Amino acid sequence: MEVDERYKILFEPVKIGPVVTPNRFYQVPHCNGMGFRDVSGMVALRAIKAEGGWGVVCTEQVEIHHTSEIAPYIELRIWDDKDLPVLSRITNAVHIHGALAGIELAYNGMNGPNLYSREVPLGPSDLPTVTFSNDPVQARAMTKRDITNLRRWHRNAALRSKAAGFDIVYVYGAHGLGAPQHFLSRRYNQRTDEYGGSLKNRARLLIELIEDTKDAVGDTCAVACRIGVDEMIGEEGIHREEMLELFSEISELPDLWDLTLCSWDIDSQTSRFSEE
Ligand SMILES: Cc1cc2nc3c(=O)[nH]c(=O)nc-3n(C[C@H](O)[C@H](O)[C@H](O)COP(=O)(O)O)c2cc1C
Repeated sequence: MEVDERYKILFEPVKIGPVVTPNRFYQVPHCNGMGFRDVSGMVALRAIKAEGGWGVVCTEQVEIHHTSEIAPYIELRIWDDKDLPVLSRITNAVHIHGALAGIELAYNGMNGPNLYSREVPLGPSDLPTVTFSNDPVQARAMTKRDITNLRRWHRNAALRSKAAGFDIVYVYGAHGLGAPQHFLSRRYNQRTDEYGGSLKNRARLLIELIEDTKDAVGDTCAVACRIGVDEMIGEEGIHREEMLELFSEISELPDLWDLTLCSWDIDSQTSRFSEE
């Protein structure tokens, strides 16, 4: 097939950390409602994308631990080794067509009401959860021990991702989901310890999770970070200037940055009904 000169670059390979994507068609993480419940359908969907030519095919957000789950929504899970067969089906199906497989590790903390596990949701501060359905559930401020636990759960999930054959492993803090974003945001982070206050402190968890992931799997897997760069509420929230300041410090930390807007309803509007 003759490719227009202007678009040839899209078909060139790109190195992302230790892996190489065959082209620049990159399917960012998104869910499809099938998740852990309708595995064959979900595997087939990802395989069709790889077959169609996407260089990278990512999962949806994948819950790393039962203390943060987002029932009644159906996502994938990487809670323990029992989840590996499902996840390996995805990577095998994507690899058959020569694409890379990415996984988005998610700990949504105060965004998950835990309607299934009934665990107390954890967040940076003692605050009501921020869920789409306004569930009357309170999140508890994480202790240092909770933070250590979270880092261990995330690291274990990264190791399991590698074992399942993923090429790209994500740290997730975007869309008002993902604990690293809640820690970054002044409106949710009221801590007075080294995880609160200054930008450096609010970014500490994010940086630790990226570093942990690189340490655990960075030899063979690319480490990506999907991060929300603007809560669109001015200086009370995450905003452009402070994110530029953060990037000037840690731009080289992950192998790939995947930037979104902070709130789900702004980032994920359908172009049919919203302004660009
Ligand atoms: C139904 C739906 C599910 C999505 N699921 C996820 C997800 O699991 N993880 C994630 O990081 N983004 C998710 N997204 C956000 C998309 O990846 C993407 O950022 C958003 O649709 C904006 O796309 P655009 O940049 O092409 O306009 C989802 C979006 C939609 C509409």
